[in-house]
Amino acid sequence: MHIKELNLTNYRNYKNLLIEFDDKVNVIIGENAQGKTNLMEAIYLLAFTKSHRTSKEKELIRWDEEYAKIEGRVEKRIQSIPLEIVISGKGKKAKLNHLEQRRLSDYIGNLNVVMFAPEDLTLVKGTPNIRRRFIDMELGQIQPRYIYHLGQFQKVLKQRNHLLKQMQRDRSINRMMLNVLTDQLIEHASTIIERRFAFLELLRKWAKPIHHGISHQVEELEIVYSPTVEVLEGASKEKIESSFQEKFRQSIEKEIERGTTLYGPHRDDILFYVNGKNVQTYGSQGQQRTTALSIKLAEIDLIYSEVGEYPILLLDDVLSELDDYRQSHLLNTIQGKVQTFVSTTSVDGIHHSTLEKAEIFRVQNGTVTS
Ligand SMILES: Nc1ncnc2c1ncn2[C@@H]1O[C@H](COP(=O)(O)OP(=O)(O)OP(=O)(O)O)[C@@H](O)[C@H]1O
Ligand SMILES: [Mg+2]
Repeated sequence: MHIKELNLTNYRNYKNLLIEFDDKVNVIIGENAQGKTNLMEAIYLLAFTKSHRTSKEKELIRWDEEYAKIEGRVEKRIQSIPLEIVISGKGKKAKLNHLEQRRLSDYIGNLNVVMFAPEDLTLVKGTPNIRRRFIDMELGQIQPRYIYHLGQFQKVLKQRNHLLKQMQRDRSINRMMLNVLTDQLIEHASTIIERRFAFLELLRKWAKPIHHGISHQVEELEIVYSPTVEVLEGASKEKIESSFQEKFRQSIEKEIERGTTLYGPHRDDILFYVNGKNVQTYGSQGQQRTTALSIKLAEIDLIYSEVGEYPILLLDDVLSELDDYRQSHLLNTIQGKVQTFVSTTSVDGIHHSTLEKAEIFRVQNGTVTS
């Protein structure tokens, strides 16, 4: 799939922008603070309805304006889909084929995007919530139903935590309601973990050979799900459910004492190992970078295998940071199959073979010239 045109109105530092992209490589060049990341962010937003760098949607509206609008058209093998996001003081609207979609799960998944930005290095070395966010976003875009389960889980989690807080203060509260919420929580938690297992299985399949290649055949990547309940990876939903039942039964007093839900997918983590050693703890910068890159490149193939079309690749400020060898690996992976956006302050660090095939856009203070 690829994005043909993008139309921005009052979005960040763009007042009005209509731009047509190449379906292969688009290089976006500009000095700092001119609007390169803003442009990438707009494409990301069309895919996920969320920014990759802020949760405060008001920030996306151009200063002193009332609303921001992002419109784009995704071209797929057999269809062309208009997408639109409008953000205003009243909230956010997502339109698909000009029709508003009230449920996120009906919107997300129509445009698939893989983004690689400097902050993605924190995927390996950052806190667990970054890795959970990663798996949730990626799973959500290939399996919209996952977003539904996640939403349900979060709703029940909030209710359960609220009740646990009340019980912490007042021990005489009847436990009936807690049992009901625990059962509901287990139902959604188990579905989420079961799907995460399946996703990691795929990610591993694609990432291991890529990583092996980038590391000149000397490193073996392993990706491990680290849950808060005792389940073996790949366990069935029933198995996961019974582990949760057991865990909650054992630790109910502790949960009341703490006033919060101690076990579940909201506390799980993903661990990366290289040659048997945890990369987060022991990996060099280069190893962490290679791991993050392998994961991102793997996603391209993973999405193709699940969705049947290649996603769009956004490389914000990272290409020139990769050495020649990693750059060429990346380019081999995409090989003209994947519509790619590369942003950079200077073409110096970018391989000439990339530039040769690319359409070049220059960004200056919210205006783009090609
Ligand atoms: N809501 C907004 N309204 C107007 N301008 C904004 C808004 N949000 C951000 N900006 C401006 O956008 C610019 C930043 O754009 P962006 O992050 O895309 O820069 P960039 O070209 O990626 O720079 P760098 O090379 O440093 O990463 C800043 O000048 C900032 O002031
Ligand atoms: Mg930037």
